[in-house]
Amino acid sequence: MPEKNGGYSKVASSSSAQTSSLQKMHGVWSSRWTFILAATGSAVGLGNIWKFPYIAGENGGGAFVLVYLVCIAMIGIPVMCAEVLIGRRGRMSPINSMRFVTEEAGLHGAWTAIGWGGVVAGLMIMAFYSVVAGWALHHVIETASGAFTGIDGAGAGAKFGEFLGNTKSLIAWHTVFSVITFTVVAAGVTKGLSVVARVLMPFLFVALAVLLVYAIVKGDIAQGFAFLFDFKFDKLTGKGVLVALGHAFFTLSLGMGAIMAYGAYMPAHANVAGTVVTIGILDTLVALVAGLAIFPIVFASPGLQPSAGPGLMFVSLPVAFGNMPLGIVFGTLFFVLVVVAAWSSAVSLIEPGVAWVTEKGKFNRTIATGILTFIAWLGGLLCIYSNNWSGDKEGHFFVFEGLDFLTAQLMLPLGGMFIAIFVGWFMNKKILASEMDAEGHPLFDIWLFLIRYVSPALVALVMVFTLYITFAEPSDDLDFRALMFGLKVVSGGLSIVIGLQLWKLRKAKAQA
Ligand code: PFF
Repeated sequence: MPEKNGGYSKVASSSSAQTSSLQKMHGVWSSRWTFILAATGSAVGLGNIWKFPYIAGENGGGAFVLVYLVCIAMIGIPVMCAEVLIGRRGRMSPINSMRFVTEEAGLHGAWTAIGWGGVVAGLMIMAFYSVVAGWALHHVIETASGAFTGIDGAGAGAKFGEFLGNTKSLIAWHTVFSVITFTVVAAGVTKGLSVVARVLMPFLFVALAVLLVYAIVKGDIAQGFAFLFDFKFDKLTGKGVLVALGHAFFTLSLGMGAIMAYGAYMPAHANVAGTVVTIGILDTLVALVAGLAIFPIVFASPGLQPSAGPGLMFVSLPVAFGNMPLGIVFGTLFFVLVVVAAWSSAVSLIEPGVAWVTEKGKFNRTIATGILTFIAWLGGLLCIYSNNWSGDKEGHFFVFEGLDFLTAQLMLPLGGMFIAIFVGWFMNKKILASEMDAEGHPLFDIWLFLIRYVSPALVALVMVFTLYITFAEPSDDLDFRALMFGLKVVSGGLSIVIGLQLWKLRKAKAQA
């Protein structure tokens, strides 16, 4: 049992010597700051620099960004606290930590599915994530060799299209990235990753700031700014809301146990809420700065479109680097940093699975990492080949898009919703307050309210809404009908839950 548990003795039947030796197995971050940097390393990645700008572009900009920010604040940050808390309570892999807290709460073992789902989702994400990280690696070499010098939007688009058609090259870069991820995870996250996080993350922030200055001086900053922050709701679609919600989970690495795994290595007395808010703010800032750096360049370059899709960053930034003074040096450095950001995220995608395999005791850490990286690598091959199945060089990746949709828009939000429900409704309130280091703090009650009612209700609302628009008869007011339907289902569900609570309270009072 972790040292902090003393006092709450409704502890799992299996919290035996075996559990306690598992809890000591993985090591602890050297300080709260290392945890912040490592968790920020997990959160800040391709999701911020590559995905956020392109999905904002595809979904019309401003209003989408607003929904995304609301999701981060109302759902992402509260759920992140919940994940850190379960991890720190259990001090094991997400599967075993979930087992620990489930037994502690006297609940059915089915809740452990949150941990299992996380391991699977992590591998699914890693499959396409490392393919895209491979694109970034390829851009390091291209930029360094001067291939982008003087290039315009159309030229960069054509070059990227050509690269996507080159299966061998895609596989080679995907493999290189898988191997470098393997090395850090095999070294052990607390050892391997601390260094990466401490040294390289700050560089990425500086590089983005310089790119932003370039965008302000040379790009169309007014249009870029308006695109991101003009909240035009007529541009927002039902699908856009689901994408925004899913991205809030994806970008904060939530709903699949990555942050839970990192929370397990957190020192005993560290302020969870403050730490999580810091991570949320850093992550959001990076995404917004990446957007503000990319869109002004897109608008100032004929031949580039905000809705260019997954290739957006890979065609717009070469235009910037190809035409700025010292672009070769600076562009190379920038893509190296993108790779590093992707790397520190990828590590956290396989860590939940690796921690679990290691705990099983059959394989050592290196072999466990090898097995999981290999599975994800095979998934990456499927992503790459599915591009050629569709016979289309514009980047319509079947498996790639399917995996992205399944994970970001379904598995992560649902995982996050169940984590919120578990922590909000089933964990002992005293344990929560002690793990949060927040006994009697007013913010604690606000968090509990968010995690109990607001976060699960919002995720459920978006899910019902999306199901409705997928299956209902199309019409002009489809979004509105779907919203009303979702509100009815969710408010019905909430009324039942609150009614049951009140009934239980009355019964308890009557018995007292
Ligand atoms: N948060 C990462 C990014 O934005 O690139 C992606 C990610 C990492 C998602 C780890 C989920 C995860 F568990």
